[in-house]
Amino acid sequence: MITIENAKNLHGDRVNIHISSEKNLHINAEGLLAFPGLIDPHVHFRTPGLEYKENWSTAAIAAISGGYTTVFDMPNTIPPTVSAELLQEKKFIIQSQLQAVNIPLRYHLFFGADKAHFSEIYKVREEVIGIKVFMGCSTGNLVIDDDESLHAVFAIAASQNLIVAVHAEDEKRLDVRKKQYNPKNYADHSFIRDEETARLAVLKAIHLAKIYRVKLYILHVSTHAEIELISKAKADGLAVYAETTPHHLFLNEAAYPLLLGKAVVNPPLRKIVEQSHLFQAIADGVIDTIGSDHAPHTIAEKEKPYPSCPSGMPGIETTLPLLLTAYHQEKISLEKIHSLTVTRAEEIFGLTRNEDIILIDLHKKATVTSKALKTKCAWSSFENWELQGWPVYTIIQGQCFNLSEL
Ligand code: DOR
Ligand code: ZN
Repeated sequence: MITIENAKNLHGDRVNIHISSEKNLHINAEGLLAFPGLIDPHVHFRTPGLEYKENWSTAAIAAISGGYTTVFDMPNTIPPTVSAELLQEKKFIIQSQLQAVNIPLRYHLFFGADKAHFSEIYKVREEVIGIKVFMGCSTGNLVIDDDESLHAVFAIAASQNLIVAVHAEDEKRLDVRKKQYNPKNYADHSFIRDEETARLAVLKAIHLAKIYRVKLYILHVSTHAEIELISKAKADGLAVYAETTPHHLFLNEAAYPLLLGKAVVNPPLRKIVEQSHLFQAIADGVIDTIGSDHAPHTIAEKEKPYPSCPSGMPGIETTLPLLLTAYHQEKISLEKIHSLTVTRAEEIFGLTRNEDIILIDLHKKATVTSKALKTKCAWSSFENWELQGWPVYTIIQGQCFNLSEL
């Protein structure tokens, strides 16, 4: 049994917590805030095939360092997770990489929608958290850019009662803009993949969700235009849910001159005004969750000139400290952080609450440094940011990790 004494809960009440464990351990949590283990509904832990960027041994340490005990991993690996057989192989590799570091990270896998493998969806129904549809291409080759295939995948998802998670960028518009403008600078990325590119895809995805009565989870919402569509869909009673990311909440296009390729991400960083729209949408309950979209690439890859540098940035270690820093700045409440990182994901994806607990030192200030990061890629777009509010213990499946000892 693990006993946590004198912690505070979300409402400021003093609590003692008992967690089943093979070990006997007492933690005096005086001054610490207790939260359930966080759920990250959107990570790219790169197994199989891209382990030079990240693997589940390094990513698991990064996850628990960030206060996360459950993650949902994306299928854009090499090969992509698009068949029942590939799904089994992926699970097998994940298990061995987790065992290597003895971290019982909880995970669920998204299944990749791929035109050549739609029939595989029927076989994996019980084993996946949902179907991931790339409406516009991003890292990897998964993309569904024709309406007929989109209809087909939504119809199958409906028949199998599976949630559809969409990367909502309109491939046709992207294609035209890439050719038309011949982008050369990192900052062109935000121009090519403009707000309208996201709006068009969200519009289409909501339309399909309405026709097929599918639960729709819209990944990495970054613009007011998307928020308006999602808000209306919710008001119409559709099962439409929205996620945003730490980089869209805390960075904007002004980051390009400093971060260069490290600022390149899909969907791209937006104008500063979108950040306040996102905070407002969280307050209004239009945005349900935050996904780190932890998408590591090596520094060498990110140093390539545009457009050769890949899109994506790591994030699982800094999401909670960024949110807690925003809490200190009175931009977001602890209740909202709790619903963004735990309860809405549980509700939307039907997870039952587990016993995992994290202990947070709300007052701890620390600067993000590449040296302190556990992700294999060893960089962060938030390097040199001083953040206030860090997890200090993560208790996962009865195992207690003192994060200062990792
Ligand atoms: O920036 C991104 N990186 N967006 C995605 O959709 C994929 C991700 C990755 O896997 O690198
Ligand atoms: Zn992603």
